Amino acid sequence: MSETLTILGLESSCDDTAAAIVRKSTGTAPEILSSVVHGQNDLHAAFGGVVPEIAARAHAEKLDISVEEALAESGIKLSEIDAIAVTAGPGLIGGVLSGVMCAKGLAAGLGIPLVGVNHLAGHALTPRLTDQVAYPYLMLLVSGGHCQFLIARGPDEFTRLGGTIDDAPGEAFDKTARLLGLPQPGGPSVETVARSGDPKRFAFPRPLMDRPGCDLSFSGLKTALLRARDAIIAEKGGLTEQDRADLCASFQEAVVDVLRKKTERALKEYLALSPDNPVLAVAGGVAANSAIRAGLETVCAKYQTQFTAPPLKLCTDNAAMIAYAGLERFQAGHQDDMHLAARPRWPLDKRAPAMLGSGKKGAKA
Ligand code: KG4
Ligand code: ZN
Repeated sequence: MSETLTILGLESSCDDTAAAIVRKSTGTAPEILSSVVHGQNDLHAAFGGVVPEIAARAHAEKLDISVEEALAESGIKLSEIDAIAVTAGPGLIGGVLSGVMCAKGLAAGLGIPLVGVNHLAGHALTPRLTDQVAYPYLMLLVSGGHCQFLIARGPDEFTRLGGTIDDAPGEAFDKTARLLGLPQPGGPSVETVARSGDPKRFAFPRPLMDRPGCDLSFSGLKTALLRARDAIIAEKGGLTEQDRADLCASFQEAVVDVLRKKTERALKEYLALSPDNPVLAVAGGVAANSAIRAGLETVCAKYQTQFTAPPLKLCTDNAAMIAYAGLERFQAGHQDDMHLAARPRWPLDKRAPAMLGSGKKGAKA
């Protein structure tokens, strides 16, 4: 039986308030009818990081507006929406709560189903939204709060092969920017400055690189950068533009090296299990980095594996990915009710042991 579903998605788990409408008909590719994102960089700029209370208040203020804008942009009326999908975790609890409350209000008012979505599943299913990648596939999820290798087998079925034991790469980029006086979010600023730098000037560590398995670590890298910065300041009294560029380039190359090596290991493990589906997809904000993408592409070429990376605006937080993940969950028969809880932690692979550490978004679920 042919069916068309139109889903309104809401996202508010960190520092972006987003609403989007995604439509899918049986046998056709999903369509993003609208995707509205209101960032909060200006609100947090003075604090050097996301302030949870400020974020939660801004989400509460911006959610309704975002929904109105998403409806206007798509030309869809509220009465045409079949279900509401909302990020129910993991993330900063105040923000997640704002989104869940807004979604409950809409679902109850319209008398339509509510579907809670794991933010990480939103990122992890993005290659299906953008490229209709079939299950299973290997996913490298790299963002400001997360870093893990997952085998995606279904909308609720993930196997984690490894992940960070401390910082996420996005967090390391953000901290690096802060240490060098560059604007937040750090990823894009460090990437831009690194373009005119020498990646060989500083020999930064590649933590856990020679340890077996797919776990990663980035906190030592940040400490090494701090030491290198302080050594230059002690010697010359300050940093030149070139020092900054060289520090950024050397830092970024270390991240690329670690991700390339660990991805190769994860890919070998994955291909041994699923030789017929050689696909690596990358998602999350850090997937916007072109040096990282290029590094992963070389690994994929070596193993005749298809490489998929979403367009930049679907790498960072957005609600289209939440609407789409909600659509898949809903089609698989999942629905929530007014008891849907906001969860600060929500691991994708329920069988994997909890990761250590705690990132920008609270937990390395
Ligand atoms: O997925 P996302 O929007 O939010 C989380 O779920 O964390 O990712 C945001 C993170 C930030 O840490 C930001 O610095 C990083 O992604 N990021 C980048 C780049 N663009 C964004 N990191 C490295 N290079 C980039 N071009
Ligand atoms: Zn995210």
